[in-house]
Amino acid sequence: MLRKILVTSALPYANGSIHLGHLVEYIQTDIWVRFQKMLGNTCYYVCADDTHGTPVMLRAEKEGITPEQLIDRVWHEHKSDFEGFHVEFDHYGSTNSNETKEYAEAIYCKLKAAGLIEVRSVEQFYDPVKNMFLPDRFIKGECPKCHAKDQYGDNCEVCGTTYSPTELINPYSAVSGAQPERRNSDHYFFKLSADTCQQFLREWTRSGTLQPEAANKMQEWLGTAGENKLTDWDISRDAPYFGFEIPDAPGKYFYVWLDAPVGYMGSFKKLCDADGIAFDDYWKPDSDTELYHFIGKDILYFHALFWPAMLQHAGFRTPTKLFAHGFLTVNGEKMSKSRGTFITADSYLKQGLNPEYLRYYYAAKLNGTMEDIDLSLEDFVAKVNSDLIGKYINIASRCAGFIHKLFDGQLASSLPQIDPKPYYKQIAEDELESAKKQGGSFAVAQIIPGDEDLFGRFRKRANDIGKAYEERDYGKAIRQIMEFADIANRYVNEKAPWAIAKDDARRDELHQVCTAAIELFRLLTIYLKPVLPQLASSVETFLNIAPLSLRDVNRPIISHRINPYQHLMTRIDQKLIDAMIEANKETLAPPPSPVRHAEAQQHAIAPIAETISIDDFSKVDLRVAKIVNAEHVEGAEKLLKLTLDIGEEKTRTVFAGIKSVYEPEKLKGRMTVMVANLAPRKMKFGLSEGMVLAASGDAPGLFILSPDDGAQPGMRIK
Ligand code: 2FM
Ligand code: ZN
Repeated sequence: MLRKILVTSALPYANGSIHLGHLVEYIQTDIWVRFQKMLGNTCYYVCADDTHGTPVMLRAEKEGITPEQLIDRVWHEHKSDFEGFHVEFDHYGSTNSNETKEYAEAIYCKLKAAGLIEVRSVEQFYDPVKNMFLPDRFIKGECPKCHAKDQYGDNCEVCGTTYSPTELINPYSAVSGAQPERRNSDHYFFKLSADTCQQFLREWTRSGTLQPEAANKMQEWLGTAGENKLTDWDISRDAPYFGFEIPDAPGKYFYVWLDAPVGYMGSFKKLCDADGIAFDDYWKPDSDTELYHFIGKDILYFHALFWPAMLQHAGFRTPTKLFAHGFLTVNGEKMSKSRGTFITADSYLKQGLNPEYLRYYYAAKLNGTMEDIDLSLEDFVAKVNSDLIGKYINIASRCAGFIHKLFDGQLASSLPQIDPKPYYKQIAEDELESAKKQGGSFAVAQIIPGDEDLFGRFRKRANDIGKAYEERDYGKAIRQIMEFADIANRYVNEKAPWAIAKDDARRDELHQVCTAAIELFRLLTIYLKPVLPQLASSVETFLNIAPLSLRDVNRPIISHRINPYQHLMTRIDQKLIDAMIEANKETLAPPPSPVRHAEAQQHAIAPIAETISIDDFSKVDLRVAKIVNAEHVEGAEKLLKLTLDIGEEKTRTVFAGIKSVYEPEKLKGRMTVMVANLAPRKMKFGLSEGMVLAASGDAPGLFILSPDDGAQPGMRIK
């Protein structure tokens, strides 16, 4: 029976580029969807940009554009990256759409009516310079446990402790550098701790909806029936925020993670409206359609707890299954900007690298589990060249020319009967050898169970290969397909059409061998088509046939005219890989945005300067200074004029480039540190008589120094 399926991939944030890590998921999903479509199932694949939240708002502000302008630009970039890798959505939308807004509001109102929304006052950090509450990721400070400096507000990257931002020592705003204040504000909570949610989730997460590793993780989060470990989920954020305002709650917005998964519905609704699909068939409770979300293991919590609980209690169906995958490493390590392995989709395509190389490599590595996968660039080049060019394409390229030259493009009217044993036996022995090396045993009989002809055996494997695709064990599918490619090559090698072609008396035999090779190649193309759609399309043109579906395994092409063979795929040139790595190397670390914490982690620490003697150091006269006045300077973009008391009779004037991060009022009365013996410098706005010290690094912000309590103006710092 044909199935009706809706598939999604996680929505990428609208504030960053698609990179090869993202593509693990989109390529994986696209292969699965293409496979379903080739089976004849109705399968829709939707996705969208995840547009809301503080990072988008701040980035747009920084670029001097509106959030709408930013998300529009990024949407086009994402769309073109996906197209470049043949990731074919039925609809690619945006969470900033009317449809998503309506479903988000509808879900919220249903949850509220069910008594699952509660308002509570929450104390949070507030940036008095930016006039906004700070998300945890935008607060930094000293880890309360190990005292590492500059740690994010939710967890310490040095010792791994998780905490709330209010526990940080000396917190500061990563947006303005200002010292945050604690303020209270009303927040809206989804009551995940309610019995109905906990009971439902306990059942749902155990009902085969999750991979075993994911289900175990959920048990940990949920605790046992008596424990009820889940706490309520804060779903609101205060203005200013880029998102949807909560109905009847002016100034309160849905937290980005509330409307992100609703974006799956919003995007699908757009498709339904355009194509006349019945939306409710796919979203009503007890629907006979299937719903699958492909996600990274890092966002399991949102998809396996919040999302199904929201859907269940708002009267919608819940997902059939979640397919979580691991992360991508490159050359065995985390992607790194300094090593050039933080590779964007765009830079890959710009090098002229064929996207299907990567699709193939990822497919060969994926196995349907949450394990991380590694893109070893050396292995990538070797594997693609050996499998795709050396094995698969090689079958066609060695035989097609004869069909064209000697038979006017016409395939023979029948296929030869080919005894598979000689070719399989060879494989069996190879495998026996490798099995022995691994210390195992191997039954040759399993490889040659019957004596059907070679085509029959190729066709029969459609079931196994199909099962592997269905289970997202693409690696297994690829291994089986490549085993066939080896067999087909053995057949061609043994028959040696190039030798037969020399003998006019053997024309028929040549015709049969080449027709057989083309049929084997066609079967391989069917099996590879979900992974290599573009190549399959070129093969369809070459073979002069309609788009291949899985049913076509049973329809060999004979008595049929094919087109002249054109080169189908070239080998990967190592130089292109080297150039791509070079292009992605970031020599000058740019100011990292606190937005992508993974990116921020990649920045190297600047080398320590050359060694100096104590005498060198003592030449610098550092003094405790009291800021007696601070004011804006007319016409100066970056400077504040500071009046400093360093215990002398006269105060000093210093122009400091700290206007972007400090408000003059807040500085008055503060103690800081200045270089008192720096040669005075004449500036456009007056004479600067020294310098105040401030810290800055890769992270945004600038932080003037303060002595400990008790220090007096003029004290020397040694
Ligand atoms: O982690 C992320 O990149 C999120 N933007 C994924 C959202 S998936 C869904 F819920 F929308
Ligand atoms: Zn720590």
